[in-house]
Amino acid sequence: SAAIKPLVAGNWKMNGLKASQAEFYKMVVGISDEVADTVDAMICAPSTLTALLAEKAGKGPPAIGGQDCHTAASGAHTGDISAEMLADAGASAVIVGHSERRTDHGESDAIVNAKAQAAWRAGLIAIICVGETEAERKAGNAVSIVEGQLNASIPDGATAENTVVAYEPVWAIGTGLTPTAADVAEMHKAMRVNLEGRLGSEGQAMRLLYGGSVKPANARELMSVDNVNGALVGGASLKADDLLGILAAY
Ligand code: G3P
Repeated sequence: SAAIKPLVAGNWKMNGLKASQAEFYKMVVGISDEVADTVDAMICAPSTLTALLAEKAGKGPPAIGGQDCHTAASGAHTGDISAEMLADAGASAVIVGHSERRTDHGESDAIVNAKAQAAWRAGLIAIICVGETEAERKAGNAVSIVEGQLNASIPDGATAENTVVAYEPVWAIGTGLTPTAADVAEMHKAMRVNLEGRLGSEGQAMRLLYGGSVKPANARELMSVDNVNGALVGGASLKADDLLGILAAY
C-alpha cells in the first residue's frame, strides 16, 4: 500500500455556520506543500457551506466534499441535494452510507449503492461507509457484516479513482473508543482481500480509510496500520489545529 496516496477527509456532520469559514481558512493556509504532496486533505461540509468553502479553498487543499446525495439528478424531492448540485457548488466527492444516514434515514445497502452510482454520474468520488455495531462485534460477526456491506453497497464499476471505502465501527464514532491496531489490521486486510477478489487491481489500489475517534494523539498509530490509507474524521475535523495535527501523522 506504499504507492497509495492517503486521504484524510473531515466530516463536519451537522456542524458549521458561515462564521466557520475562518477556521476552514486556517486549514487552507496551514497545509504545507510538503504535507499536500504526501497526503490528500478534504472537508465534507454541510451543503449550506459547500460553495462558500469551495471558493475559500480555491484549488485547495483541502478538497471539498458533500455528506450525502440523492439517487436522482434533479426532480420532486423536497429537501434533498443531488450529486450534480454538489459538483456544481465545487465538491469533488460525497460521503454515502454513513452509519448516521443508515440509522437516522433507514438507508439500506441498496440505497447506498444507488447513491454511489449517482455520485459517479456527477463526476464525484463516492466515499462509501461501512462498519459493524457493538453488538455485531461482540457476537464475533464484525468481519462478515462488513463484507456483506461491501458486497451490496459498492456498485460494479468501482475503481480506485471513483471510490474510497471508509471503515467506521459504529461503536467508535464520537465515543473516544477505537479498535486496537490489530483489530483494524484484521478488518482492513479482510476488506482488501474482498475488494481485490471482486475488482482486481482496482481493489488493490482503492483507498481504505479508518474512521471513529481519530485524533492527533492516535493518528500515527492508526494510520500506520497495513491497508489503512487515511482517515475519515468527525469531531477532530472541526478545528484546524486538530486536522493539521492528524495530517502531520504522515
Ligand atoms: O465520519 C466520521 C465520523 O463518523 C467519525 O466521527 O467524531 O468519532 O471522529 P468521530
